[in-house]
Amino acid sequence: MILAVNSGGQDAVADWRAQFARVAPHLEVRWLDDADLRPEQVHYAFVWSPGPGRPATMPNLRLILSSGAGVDHITCDPAWPRHVGIVRMGGEETAQRMGEYVCLGALPLLRSLPRIIAGQRLGRWDSFDSPRTAPETRVGVMGLGNLGAHAAQMLRGLGFQVAGWSRSPKSLPGIEHFAGGAGRDAFLARTDILVCLLPDTPETRGAIRAETIAKLPQGAGVVNAGRGGHAVLPDVIAALDSGHLAGAVLDVFEPEPLPPGHPAWSHPGIIVTPHLASLASRPARAQYVADAIAAYERGEAPANLYDPARGY
Ligand code: NDP
Ligand code: OXD
Repeated sequence: MILAVNSGGQDAVADWRAQFARVAPHLEVRWLDDADLRPEQVHYAFVWSPGPGRPATMPNLRLILSSGAGVDHITCDPAWPRHVGIVRMGGEETAQRMGEYVCLGALPLLRSLPRIIAGQRLGRWDSFDSPRTAPETRVGVMGLGNLGAHAAQMLRGLGFQVAGWSRSPKSLPGIEHFAGGAGRDAFLARTDILVCLLPDTPETRGAIRAETIAKLPQGAGVVNAGRGGHAVLPDVIAALDSGHLAGAVLDVFEPEPLPPGHPAWSHPGIIVTPHLASLASRPARAQYVADAIAAYERGEAPANLYDPARGY
């Protein structure tokens, strides 16, 4: 069985080979762009941005395994083979790392880190009191899936009042829940720090735009670790400039990398991180992929299969 890999570039292939030798020794790991690899030889493809039309050339492809939790880098290809399942990256380490990032986003907004850093840059002793503590601060997580649900629990562990918003109703211990279009405005109105962990779908694009930002309380903060298309950056910047938003921590952009000279790079209210919120280690991702392939080979549906009807 051949597993064609394109995650981390050609330099990573030797390491992937070593990782899969440990967890799925029956798989022969090949570089997706290996000139000697014929498309019909590929049974499984473990990829990040495989390239338009590429998976469709592989007649014996059984499963596409996404190297990331989002699969928009595969489904943006109009020719991706609809009969082949796509497995979204998941697992404990992916969720743990994202939870850490979200806490890393929420705490600087709570404690006004951009102002502290600006003071340091100027050599200015700008000592000030934080207006509130975590238990006095309401965080709202948009997207309560594998990552959002875990991040919500970690935020709660820091003492924040946490609510979540998703398409379908949920019950998570200690997390207030809002669902669908009907619950959206009430969710926004009670949210001091808005965290976006939505997938990229036609319904979720622009989730953080002027109209939704206006529904957040004055002085709210935003953390976007979903996809760049979720935040309309000119709207975020306008809300920061007017003072309606107090700060934003942004990990994802459209396009990526964020172009040199983009106003987000130098805006005093924005912390830019270069799409690094959560990428599980290679051992963790190899184990996750091996488990998904093992489930498939037992005739079971692997966990976290992309659902084309829902779009995530
Ligand atoms: P899941 O599919 O597990 O969860 C998605 C959540 O979003 C679900 O709760 C879902 O609702 C909700 N949702 C989807 N559409 C809507 C909608 N229209 N309205 C309201 N809620 C909606 O995804 P993951 O948690 O695994 O990942 C989420 C995203 O995080 C990825 O798609 C990717 O874009 C991003 N990501 C970013 C990374 C980074 O490094 N910046 C790393 C990894 C992921 P329901 O529960 O009802 O289905
Ligand atoms: C992912 C990502 O989807 O890295 O995993 O954004």
